[in-house]
Amino acid sequence: MVEESINKNWDWWPLFPLYPYGKKKTILRELIPGQIWSLEQIQGLYYVAVPIRMTVLKLDEGLMLINPLPPTKELVNELEKLISIHGKVKTIVLPSASGLEHKIGLPALLRIFKDANIWLCPGQWSFPINLPLDFLGIPSKRTRILFEDGTPHKDLFKWSSLGPLNLGLGRYHEVSCYHFSTRTLHVTDAIVGIDSRPPEIFDFDPTPLLFHSRERGDEPLIDSFESRKKGWARLVLFSSFLKPGKLKIPPLKEIIKYSFKKDLRNRRAHFGIYPFLWDADWESSLFEIIGEDMPKIQIAPVLQKLIFPRSKEVLIGWLENIKSFKDMAYLIPAHFSAPVEFTVEDANKLINEINSEKWDKLPEDNKFLMSLYKKLFELGIIPEEVNI
Ligand SMILES: [Fe+2]
Repeated sequence: MVEESINKNWDWWPLFPLYPYGKKKTILRELIPGQIWSLEQIQGLYYVAVPIRMTVLKLDEGLMLINPLPPTKELVNELEKLISIHGKVKTIVLPSASGLEHKIGLPALLRIFKDANIWLCPGQWSFPINLPLDFLGIPSKRTRILFEDGTPHKDLFKWSSLGPLNLGLGRYHEVSCYHFSTRTLHVTDAIVGIDSRPPEIFDFDPTPLLFHSRERGDEPLIDSFESRKKGWARLVLFSSFLKPGKLKIPPLKEIIKYSFKKDLRNRRAHFGIYPFLWDADWESSLFEIIGEDMPKIQIAPVLQKLIFPRSKEVLIGWLENIKSFKDMAYLIPAHFSAPVEFTVEDANKLINEINSEKWDKLPEDNKFLMSLYKKLFELGIIPEEVNI
């Protein structure tokens, strides 16, 4: 038990203090037999925890990692199993310039795989000040920038750029890649497939699901299939809209009234503090983002409202590019379901959605994101011209 606990330690967590803090469970899943694997951990704030993925691909000799994760002992142990069969980690790719959650594990991972070549999405930025790569723990000697210095393993992959877009505080940019032999498209944040089953990693600790399956802080955390599914649906709404339309924050007096009840005065239940009040019909908008039996493919809702409202053509241009992979069969993003069946037809559907009137409409769930966008725009943080 002690041994297992040590394996999950991640000592650098204060750099990015997200749940589950210093303890990160990692699971290994095989996505395409003998070719592609997924290492998954949970990241989030206040139990709004969703899985995040590092993808491992088999090269002719050795392995390539896309979207680094914090290398806990457990993660490294799982990776070693693949290395013993398929050879060393040859290449590590950080294909996003904006997603902090994908960057935070990179320096520590690079210290472990000292021979690996590093490829970065152009325009890496650190906040609040821009630091040179070496200050960020990324050795510049073995680092190359995608497109500026070429692309890795050209015979196996085709790399495509989405962005850059100017966000004011920094830029949004991600680079996707198509793996010819497995017919898989790899993206970071842009497209996701979300389904109603809670991801496998919650089997090890369903607490975040059970926490959010409740209506009030004085309700105990009860584990059942239904409560896991309900909790997962609410986590999806949180992570997609930050503040879903059907969610109210109750008055402080109300929150306190139901807090600190017997058996709930513990860290796991956040001492009964539950500052959420869901409308009775909270499930009504789920069909828009969650597929019941198979993942619902969509442009990630947060990006849809915060980044792409005025850069449709950039998004469509990238999707048109993706459509050139005629035999495409699967999508593997860094979040939610993977692999997701994904063909040229699906890319076409996304383009049609972006061009439809619905794309600009304002469903209730997006109100908070749209008001945030408006505020940032008024403050001059989001610039008038986002296309670079
Ligand atoms: Fe992300």
